[in-house]
Amino acid sequence: MGLQLVGELLEPASRADPYPIYARLRALGPVWIEPMRTVVVTGYRDCERLLRDPRLSAERQHTGSTSHEDLYPPDAPSSVRQRWFLSQDPPDHTRLRRLVSSAFTARTVARMEPSITRLVDQCLDRAGDTFDVLSDFAHPLPVMVICRMLGVPLADEPLFRRWSAQLTRLLDGFSADGGEDEEWLAGMVEMHRYVNDLVAGRRARPRSEDLISDLIAAEDGGDQLSHDELVATVVLLLVAGHETTVNLIANGVLALLRHPGQFAALRADPGLAPAVVEEVLRHDPPVQLTARVASQAMTIGEVHVPAGDMVILLLAAANRDPDANPDPDRFDPHRAQVRHLGLGQGAHYCLGAPLARLEGRVALARFAQRVRGAELVADPPPYREHINLRGVSELLIAKVH
Ligand code: HEM
Repeated sequence: MGLQLVGELLEPASRADPYPIYARLRALGPVWIEPMRTVVVTGYRDCERLLRDPRLSAERQHTGSTSHEDLYPPDAPSSVRQRWFLSQDPPDHTRLRRLVSSAFTARTVARMEPSITRLVDQCLDRAGDTFDVLSDFAHPLPVMVICRMLGVPLADEPLFRRWSAQLTRLLDGFSADGGEDEEWLAGMVEMHRYVNDLVAGRRARPRSEDLISDLIAAEDGGDQLSHDELVATVVLLLVAGHETTVNLIANGVLALLRHPGQFAALRADPGLAPAVVEEVLRHDPPVQLTARVASQAMTIGEVHVPAGDMVILLLAAANRDPDANPDPDRFDPHRAQVRHLGLGQGAHYCLGAPLARLEGRVALARFAQRVRGAELVADPPPYREHINLRGVSELLIAKVH
């Protein structure tokens, strides 16, 4: 039964609404999928607990992992072989995360608000009678924001957009279409070359209010990021922060257009935006799942997981567990309490959460203020093939006069 449901989930036809399949999986409890040698966990309490369980390792195969090391050309910069802390365990993860957190602070993020508001308004200025919320708004915004934070010259932003599109597959982990390997490898190498130069330039001439200069200066008990660690972290920030935020904005706009009452409430009270963002992260999260490896044999529910096998935590299914949130399929920003794992939990909890929330809040509040009388051209809209970073490939809206 579990295998059949996972098969259904992988069907392209399930992208538009995987939630009924998640509900059926959740009813089974943790299930073992023998051909994948994987246990799939869907309950809120189980997922929350396992995200904090030190027996589960984040050193999985995908994302900047050792399995990619041999694929790079010999003349690639050495930083491409530096693992991302997203897929490292303590103590290495703890050390890197602490150093990066000391530069990527709530204050660093909060000072971006005026510039994010300006960028959001520039995108919305271009909204005509028909508007693709994805390509005209949700997609460009996060790249522009991270490029501003990194001090990337405006003329080079299109490069970051392209690299981000090429590297997103790495995070998904489920688009196993190996044929495109060359494209992401080339993108990864090009981006590392560019960021190596960017960092070298900033070492020579540090700037104030600049994330790269802050990362160079970051220090913890005499320890600092090595050059390669710093470059790999900048690449990770783009990859982890782009498509995710794109989907937060697009999924949020979609939910609001499907719930005109909530849309009107947000327009009347922009102070509702943080609650709307949390409800989108719960109801239709941009990151649907994460994966870990059992570093030792363990039992999850009634499933025995041998050491070295995979644990998939279906965050999007956990968020709709009725034990965590009553009436979970309802999109309702007015919940008394919202519990979600949309930004993860435990040691790997999203480092970019303050930025994701800020961009989501400004984007959705300004959208509600500025776009009136809009309707979806297609419902459901077309979806991309990704299972994990589930998101629309187009979100056309038309103004009704
Ligand atoms: C980790 C979601 C935006 C940087 C994570 C994790 C989730 C997540 C679920 C945990 C992964 C795991 O446990 O395996 C999201 C969502 C976002 C978002 C839904 C947007 C709505 C961002 C942004 C940045 C960012 C804007 C940075 C610019 C990171 C990093 C990690 C991470 C560096 C790894 C943390 C660690 O391993 O310690 N994110 N993220 N994310 N996120 Fe985000």
